[in-house]
Amino acid sequence: DFSWKLADHPNIPKGKTIALIVLDGWGEASPDPYNCIHVADTPTMDSLKKGNPDYWRLVRAHGTAVGLPTEDDMGNSEVGHNALGAGRIFAQGAKLVDAALASGKIYDGEGFNYIKECFETNTLHLIGLLSDGGVHSRLDQLQLLLKGASEKGAKRIRVHFLTDGRDVLDGSSVAFVEALEQDLEQLRKKGVDARIASGGGRMYVTMDRYENDWGVVKRGWDAQVLGEAPYKFKSAVEAVKKLRADGHNDQYLPPFVIVDENEKPVGPVVDGDAVVTVNFRADRMTMVAKALEYENFDSFDRVRFPKIRYAGMLQYDGELKLPSHYLVSPPEIDRTSGEYLVHNGIRTFACSETVKFGHVTFFWNGNRSGYFNSEFEEYVEIPSDSGITFNVQPKMKALEIGEKARDAILSGKFDQVRVNIPNGDMVGHTGDIEATVVACKAADEAVKMILDAIEQVGGIYVVTADHGNAEDMVKRNKTGQPLLDKNGQIQILTSHTLQPVPIAIGGPGLAPGVRFRKDVPDGGLANVAATVMNLHGFEAPSDYEPTLIEVVGN
Ligand code: 3PG
Ligand code: CO
Repeated sequence: DFSWKLADHPNIPKGKTIALIVLDGWGEASPDPYNCIHVADTPTMDSLKKGNPDYWRLVRAHGTAVGLPTEDDMGNSEVGHNALGAGRIFAQGAKLVDAALASGKIYDGEGFNYIKECFETNTLHLIGLLSDGGVHSRLDQLQLLLKGASEKGAKRIRVHFLTDGRDVLDGSSVAFVEALEQDLEQLRKKGVDARIASGGGRMYVTMDRYENDWGVVKRGWDAQVLGEAPYKFKSAVEAVKKLRADGHNDQYLPPFVIVDENEKPVGPVVDGDAVVTVNFRADRMTMVAKALEYENFDSFDRVRFPKIRYAGMLQYDGELKLPSHYLVSPPEIDRTSGEYLVHNGIRTFACSETVKFGHVTFFWNGNRSGYFNSEFEEYVEIPSDSGITFNVQPKMKALEIGEKARDAILSGKFDQVRVNIPNGDMVGHTGDIEATVVACKAADEAVKMILDAIEQVGGIYVVTADHGNAEDMVKRNKTGQPLLDKNGQIQILTSHTLQPVPIAIGGPGLAPGVRFRKDVPDGGLANVAATVMNLHGFEAPSDYEPTLIEVVGN
């Protein structure tokens, strides 16, 4: 007797406009010169923090609180927005793949059996991010899969890697490639023809997202599938070292192919081959998955479309069922708050710029593209600047997002206006501290614009973040001291952090007596959905993580 109908909240009235603001990459940390949020002029966020603790607190945004394997796993946008939208903690891709590899179940599944058909006669290609970042992929999972696939009969294996430098330190790529080469060497000793075939930096090759720049995916296609790239090397370690010495960083290494003594690429993808994209995270695999799977495809000229057996590590899009074959089933993120609210008549507006657009729509809705009911929902994407690193444009589209949200609030057409403001994260990932300070200020200004509109219509605001990034830009030792590299320079932290994130509620529409309860000290992002449902005047479903608020004095 399941029902989408939510019970009325006993003490909180319906009908208030709620602004739900997610600051991307905005964690809480002690004041410090490498805390860009602290250094930046952020009067709006500061005033929320300095206000009454009944309306401001911290929530957990990393590790097991968001379904990651361990407390050493930093938060990320996928798991963060999944938790925010779904109101429950799901074992996430990283964890599901770990389990499937540990139990060996991965080799019994439909996906593996499908690709295995090629092992006797053809090549198995593995494409993915090479690092131990744990956000999109993990080296140890790739290593286990290489071993497992060869034990299950793969005779010829080609690896096409993307260097990281974004979820891990810049420059760490060399050691990861060396580790991979050692494993391949071991396989070769066992008679498997296993080699690296191509490479490139994740932000320049293959791993674009939300169709920001198909050129990125095309560069990967050319190198991985066609065996064509501007650079040719005999060794991948040499390739990465040389390209880095020429001034490219890990995130942006140009594409290269590995060639044999006759200058012939060692691993283009041909008819009859199997391909696995080894990333578990969805957003940056969706575009390449389309290129590998769709018969009809015109986002770029593939030149050659080999007849392959393709499987994702996971299925990346539950609505598109993309890809149709996969090694591990993704988390079943069902009954998200967005779907409930639509069924209960809540009209929703969601907006961000391209690079984070899917975060407040696709991730928010449990890795599902499209609307639940377009009569009740409007999703607006502001085109991001493409082809630049965001430290040169640190304000990004914060102002435009703020304006769109303001207009949506003032229009009276929506009950929930939800945005992601990307600056702290996207600029934080560049490692440019000065630019990140500018970014944080711009994000704060966008928040102000939205809070002003909420003030005007008598609404409610909820301001939070998906994980940390801009609040710590330096790699630290165990006691918190910045670490120096060989040259005495501080080691810049381009990645996310383990920090908690703030959440603030308020606005003239907040019912009297509503405040943060004190009995969920370990509350995390998954507790936000029930909180927001309450503020819309509904009780949350009983299996949602508990609400963060209570109503006193009734
Ligand atoms: C990326 O994909 O840009 C990073 O690996 C993670 O950043 P995000 O989780 O903030 O998107
Ligand atoms: Co990020």
